[in-house]
Formats: sequence, C-alpha cells, structure tokens
Amino acid sequence: MPDHFEIDLETARRRRSLKWRRYSADVIPLWVAEMDFPLAPAVTERLAGMVERSDFGYPPEPPEETNSEFRAVVAAWMNRRHQWEVDPEMVSITPDTMRAIEIAIERFTDPGDPVVLSDPVYYPFRVAIEEAGRRPLWVPMVESNRRWVLDLEALAAAFAPGNVQLFLHCSPHNPTGTVFTADEQQSIAALAEQHNVIVVADEVHADLAYDASHIPFATINPEIAARTITASAASKAFNFAGLRCGFVIAGDQRLHEQVQSVPIRDRKLASLAGYEATIAAYGGGASWLESLHRHLREMRDHVIGRLAMIEESLVVANPEASYLLWTDWRQIDLAPDPATYLRENAGVALSSGDDFGPSGTGFLRLNFGTSRAILDEALDRIEDALAGS
Ligand SMILES: Cc1ncc(COP(=O)(O)O)c(C=O)c1O
Repeated sequence: MPDHFEIDLETARRRRSLKWRRYSADVIPLWVAEMDFPLAPAVTERLAGMVERSDFGYPPEPPEETNSEFRAVVAAWMNRRHQWEVDPEMVSITPDTMRAIEIAIERFTDPGDPVVLSDPVYYPFRVAIEEAGRRPLWVPMVESNRRWVLDLEALAAAFAPGNVQLFLHCSPHNPTGTVFTADEQQSIAALAEQHNVIVVADEVHADLAYDASHIPFATINPEIAARTITASAASKAFNFAGLRCGFVIAGDQRLHEQVQSVPIRDRKLASLAGYEATIAAYGGGASWLESLHRHLREMRDHVIGRLAMIEESLVVANPEASYLLWTDWRQIDLAPDPATYLRENAGVALSSGDDFGPSGTGFLRLNFGTSRAILDEALDRIEDALAGS
C-alpha cells in the first residue's frame, strides 16, 4: 500500500469531520485524535455492503446473546493480537470508550468521591469525573529520556487514605504515547490490590502500539483481572470514531454483572455501522494495521527530527504507540498562549496542553496521523511563524 497514507491537503480538506471543520479552511488541523487516511479495505467493503443493502436500521440490541458474532470477534482479536484469552461472555457493547468509563464512574463510586487519574491525561476523563459530581485526584507523570511514566510514590500516596475506589488507567497513554512495561503494569497492579482499588483500563490505543508490546492490564494476574474493567474500541486504530461503537471487557463475572446491571437506556446503543466496521476491522484488518504502524513510526521520527531542528527543547516525548506527540513550548515566549499563537500566526491547530491536566500549561499535543506532505506544510508554517516571533 505505498500511497495509501500519502494524501494531499486538498483531498483531506474535503472531509466533513470535526477535525477539518472546527477551524477555518486555511488552518491545518493537527489536534483532535483522528487520522486522515482512507479506511482499511476490509472496513470499506463491509460498509459498502451496508450502503448497497440500504442497511441502516437499528443495531442488534442487547441482551448480549444476540451479539455473539461481535463478542466472538473481539475475543479472538484480543487473543491473537494481545495474547489475552478473553471469554466472549465478558464483552458488553457500548457506543464508545468514554461511555464505558462514565458507566464505571457511576457504578463504582459515589458523588463526592475522588477518582484517580494521571496528570496529564486525555481530557474527557476529567470532564467525566466532574460531570458525575466526583473529584479528580491527579497523579503526576515523570519524564526520563523522553519517556513518561506514572510517579508510583504519588500513586501510592493517592491510594493511601483508603477512600479511593477507582483509578482511570490510560494505557497506552494519551498524550505521552507510553506503552507501559510489564514491570510498570505490575507495580500499578500491586498498589491497586493493596488498596482495594478498581481499575478502568482505557486501552483504546492498544492496537496502535508499534514500538513496544502492549500488555493488557487484565492479564497481569487473575486477582488483578477481578478488579479490572477494560474499555476499548476498534475505532481509534481503524479510524472510524464517528461510527460510535466500543466495548467493555469485564475481568470477571461479578464485574460483568455490574456492567450489565446498568439499564440499556443508560448504557446506550452502538450504531449498526460501527458494529459492522468493528467486525470487519478485527476480522480482516490486521495487515492494513501493520502498514499503518510503519507509516506512523516514520512520521513520528520525521516530526521529532524536524521539531528538534526548530527548537530542541520542544521534544520531550518519543511515543511508542499512536499518533500523538506531547511537546513542550515553555522555553518559547508565545502570547497569549502557544496554541492560539500557532493557530493565528502559523495557521496550524494543535491541542492545548492546559486541557490535559494541571501540568499541561505550556505544552501542546501534535497529531501526526496524517501524510508527510501535510506534516511538512504544517511544520514549514510553524518554523516560519517562530522565525518571525
Ligand atoms: C485515551 C482515549 N480514550 C477514549 C477516547 C475516546 O474514544 P471514544 O470516541 O471511543 O469515546 C480517546 C479518543 O481520542 C482516547 O484517546
């Protein structure tokens, strides 16, 4: 697939998704986490079949038994791809990953309770915690050699008072791109066990791990599985977030029953197109995913190389997964803030670090899930704007 990932700006601009519509047409959008590539052929074919049949009715409704094909495909993928033996019976369908996280917050904590999350982290975690009337309890991440890990002493201190029920574990990590090692996962698991904390493992970036093997949190040991709810979707790696379909894998029967006890009107339904696209992606998308990994690795190296030439201190991460680069703009004086400055003066939109947690001020997240041509145009613009700043 030599040209599959080399789309040009004009073609990309025809897209009608949020990424391409939030800002004016002259702005290059490198913000929200969606990529600009054509779909995997297996997904396109399946969706074309739906169009041909005019098959846009209601999706198969729970009870989950009616979704046996979906659950079996998810379980088989986890087994093949992540060496995780998933019991299909433990899979529940959700409209997206975030709904699964919201359900866990509602089910396992009470209003006013603290919910632990890393600083920085994917910003809707904080929003979901606050909207449910719970309190975000931030645990800092620390960086060494461009790799970000949780501060385990701070995690232990957060759990220590004994009033924490839930930890939202973003693994692989957005926005830093860390794929946690077995040792790191085991240390987190040991603390969760010691303090009787339930872990929601958001593993939506797992299929995008290209420099290290992702270790599903629930595979650490059976005790940790019994306190782990994994939230994920095929839509991040296969790039169909707008189709709305995700899933939860409960680590044991007790957790599964708690997820299932949420009334379906609150759990909400996935879309039929998302449901079909997930089956197609997990059933026939593995080789496309390999070529995507190659492209993302190249783009990561390219962007890091160019940013380092512009200003070395910008580069503070070297993602092992996904297409998001956490960058540090604190050494450059850009008013009123780096995101606004670059949007207004370079015509490039990045995600503002402020949204990702208290430590995010002065940082920006750059989405490199696009073509080299689009990235080069954006980086040329950034370079020119900084030269004139
Ligand atoms: C870590 C993480 N979790 C959840 C989501 C949202 O996924 P969904 O659209 O399935 O809710 C994203 C989207 O970028 C993400 O990065």
